[in-house]
Amino acid sequence: MRKGRLELPRVAPLAPKASASTNFATFALDAMSDPHVLSSRALYPQAISDWNSVGATNTVPDTLFPRSEIGCQVPFFAYICGMAEDTEHHGMNVASLRRSATGFALDREDLDDDPIVQFEDWFRYACENVALDPNAVALSSVDSSMRPSSRTVLLKSFDEKGFVFYTNYESRKAAEIAENPNVSLLFFWAEPARQVKIRGIAEKIPTSESLAYFLSRPRGSQIGAWVSAQSSVISSRSLLEAKFQEIKQKFRDKDVSLPSFWGGYRVDPEEIEFWQGRRNRLHDRFLYTKQADGTWTIERLAP
Ligand SMILES: Cc1cc2nc3c(=O)[nH]c(=O)nc-3n(C[C@H](O)[C@H](O)[C@H](O)COP(=O)(O)O)c2cc1C
Repeated sequence: MRKGRLELPRVAPLAPKASASTNFATFALDAMSDPHVLSSRALYPQAISDWNSVGATNTVPDTLFPRSEIGCQVPFFAYICGMAEDTEHHGMNVASLRRSATGFALDREDLDDDPIVQFEDWFRYACENVALDPNAVALSSVDSSMRPSSRTVLLKSFDEKGFVFYTNYESRKAAEIAENPNVSLLFFWAEPARQVKIRGIAEKIPTSESLAYFLSRPRGSQIGAWVSAQSSVISSRSLLEAKFQEIKQKFRDKDVSLPSFWGGYRVDPEEIEFWQGRRNRLHDRFLYTKQADGTWTIERLAP
């Protein structure tokens, strides 16, 4: 089979489920839960033949599948309909995934002079509008050979001193931060098409602060912090589960104490970039850079 082509059975078209007001996520969920879609593994025949005739990069003809309204494209639709394994790559055609930006814009006059206040504004929006984990953030660090690695952590607090997350102080990320405290944090919120990139210096927070947060966690999470020697190789999951039971037993009828190897890091920001997705890839980007006197400069960057 040729790359990017889908060979599909010619079946009767499904009734369009999307209306002008249907957003992509709703449409995709709808399609996935449609038994007809799942059982027949059918797509719109005309859309598919058009797509096949022009290749994988084409989107569904607007007449059939108004992409301006639902943002859907054949490759992705094929994927959600379970057709992905019919492609050469046993997967979706990632290169042809697109989506249009939201109606948000970002102008210099919209920005607060203080990036923390600006972040608070965007973070609040994300908390109110992003369905899951608006505080999930990609943390990147480098090892002693300058090889980068990224992983997701959860932002637990922020203020003018920085951005705080919690982790195991014996993990890989902790070892890398000990070698080189320069890190990057990257938030991405799909629905408002926003990204915030923070570069700064990570530093352990005082134990008293970690303790206060630890005490606020559910008991299961407290025990979990004791159980996992994060980032080490383990032979089986059953070891983890046995350790969980052991620690649970150890702290039976007692408060779970703060492990000495667990706590928070605060990333003291040196640069914070706010990125707002716009139409035609003409995105808005503003970079705040901290000056020696603690004030911030703000510059617009090319998208
Ligand atoms: C949504 C999400 C949230 C996570 N939150 C944390 C977190 O707050 N702290 C943490 O140590 N690991 C968290 N993890 C797990 C990390 O991504 C990672 O696997 C772990 O910290 C080990 O990373 P390391 O081996 O690079 O040190 C989270 C993972 C996901 C997917």
